[in-house]
Amino acid sequence: MTPPGPDKIPQHVAIIMDGNGRWAKQRGLPRLEGHRRGVETVRTVVDAARELGIRYITLYAFSVENWKRPTDEVSGLMALLDYFLKRELDTLIKNRVRLLTIGRTEALPAGVQRELQRVIAATKDFTDWTLVLALNYGSRNEVADAAKAYATAVQEGREKLSDASWERFSRYLYSADIPDPDLLIRTSGEQRVSNFMLMQCAYAEMVFTPVFWPDFGKADLESALQEYGRRERRYGLTTEQIKTGGS
Ligand code: IPE
Ligand code: IPE
Ligand code: MG
Repeated sequence: MTPPGPDKIPQHVAIIMDGNGRWAKQRGLPRLEGHRRGVETVRTVVDAARELGIRYITLYAFSVENWKRPTDEVSGLMALLDYFLKRELDTLIKNRVRLLTIGRTEALPAGVQRELQRVIAATKDFTDWTLVLALNYGSRNEVADAAKAYATAVQEGREKLSDASWERFSRYLYSADIPDPDLLIRTSGEQRVSNFMLMQCAYAEMVFTPVFWPDFGKADLESALQEYGRRERRYGLTTEQIKTGGS
């Protein structure tokens, strides 16, 4: 399959990786086996994204709501995250991929936080490729945290209320240094955003695929890019305005 032309390659693709549990259930396996296979997909997709020229890839790995799952599933997910970070460090360095996170990572287990800090520090100077992991992430918490930080900045005189704007406020979001996603993909057939990057996806194109995350591969990413390439992003303008360069 030919990917869309280079001008149509999204700069930032965000993915809601869903369907690990159902993938496992279909095979009579424990849910955690689905998560294990999901980790392998992460490696495949991060490599594929780089090969396709996608500069930013954000993966929704653990939501604030996911703490409510059975404790053995939560601890299994945390152990997998720890394993992933340990295993991928060398590859990320070799491929010059910078790791960033969004979410309340300070509530993750201490060991995971240490691994995160290690990988983030070791990859911080890479500029070509960025992998963003959304961990203990919730969009509403992100807005609440940003509002608090912004209000503090106003109180301390670093911001002026009269200057308030989206541009200024958005610098307090976890994603301050990351461009907005151009394309949002959700696997597993669910068609909802589940509290993921609600502000940043204001103008993202959305592609939903029935494929469960453990089965998602480079061909599925390419077909999502094909779909993206067929979309016309109008940002409120008319088709005619888009064709004449926005005038
Ligand atoms: C996505 O797969 C992984 C996480 C949310 C951590 P799920 O575990 O949600 O899989 P389903 O939706 O139950 O199939
Ligand atoms: C969203 O998937 C969170 C992640 C992919 C980490 P969920 O499976 O938790 O979402 P819901 O519960 O179906 O909305
Ligand atoms: Mg799910």
